[in-house]
Amino acid sequence: MDLTTEYLGLSLRTPLVPSASPLSRSLDMARELEDAGAGALVMYSLFEEAITAESETMVRFLHHQETGFAEASSFLPDHEDFANALDLYLENLRALKESLSIPVIASLNGVTPGGWIEYARELQGAGADALELNVYYVAADIHQSGARVEARYLNLLRSLRQSIRIPICMKLSPSFSSLGHMVHQFEAAGANGVALFNRFYQPDINIDSLRLQPSLHPSTSAEALLPMRWIAILYGRTGLSLAATSGVHTAADAVKLLLAGANAVQLCSVLLAKGPAYLGVIRKGIEEWMADQGFSSLDEVRGRLSALSVPNPAEFERANYLNILDSYSFSPGARV
Ligand SMILES: Cc1cc2nc3c(=O)[nH]c(=O)nc-3n(C[C@H](O)[C@H](O)[C@H](O)COP(=O)(O)O)c2cc1C
Repeated sequence: MDLTTEYLGLSLRTPLVPSASPLSRSLDMARELEDAGAGALVMYSLFEEAITAESETMVRFLHHQETGFAEASSFLPDHEDFANALDLYLENLRALKESLSIPVIASLNGVTPGGWIEYARELQGAGADALELNVYYVAADIHQSGARVEARYLNLLRSLRQSIRIPICMKLSPSFSSLGHMVHQFEAAGANGVALFNRFYQPDINIDSLRLQPSLHPSTSAEALLPMRWIAILYGRTGLSLAATSGVHTAADAVKLLLAGANAVQLCSVLLAKGPAYLGVIRKGIEEWMADQGFSSLDEVRGRLSALSVPNPAEFERANYLNILDSYSFSPGARV
């Protein structure tokens, strides 16, 4: 079965790509993912905050050294800070590149167009085959327009494009007024692909302590329907590679995204829950489905149910809304 796919200008042996997660912090897990059939690996993110916090510590340290501040030593960054986040990341990236033969995609995560973005050049130098940029930005300022939020993403991408020549993938939130238009703007600004969608973790409220508490709920298959719809709408309408992320837990989820038009399908929660070898179960499931359907290559599958191919593309848009609401029926136990 030919599962090869083109993603970000790279030739992948399968479309299954473990997304940014702690799995890539372990060489053993990364090897297991490769053995199970991963087509590429996205590394955990290098965070803007980690880089800037560290250079602030360094500035503080140097400043107090210069002025002869008596307690300068109390500003010495501790050992962990000195083995700085970037160095550690580069070390891990090099180690992954040495032990894997699949492409390794580095990941940057931040929101401001500062000097930190120039570190991308170092990631390229350390052998990253591509770079994913995750702009984990919640537009919470009620005075900031959508246009300014969009400009923030585009400015970040442009600075990144100026720094590096390797392919760039934008990992996007679904919260744009006109996602398709935004994708076109990313293409014009030099992106090579988009990963749909970034999953925001929502803070929760603890009603006993009356405090906020972090919450991290694993995704479910139902969440794959949002990237599926948008990949189906975008397929054939952009030159960018399309990756799906969020909610891929089974071979069936992956198959749907490929039918919609995905070049790559990213996996995270399922691999964290079931282990790296589970990628092999999903790969086998895709191959079995292809065999049952009489397909021998992914090229025959990709985009077969995109908005360009289905008889009624409006089903991907609003038209289906009424039918779905009409089809709702109360469950027998609905009355308390
Ligand atoms: C524990 C954990 C760590 C993650 N770390 C990152 C990260 O460093 N960078 C990033 O872009 N996404 C990160 N993600 C998001 C995932 O890459 C993925 O996009 C998201 O979980 C949705 O996919 P899923 O439904 O397969 O989990 C993380 C997710 C989890 C659960």
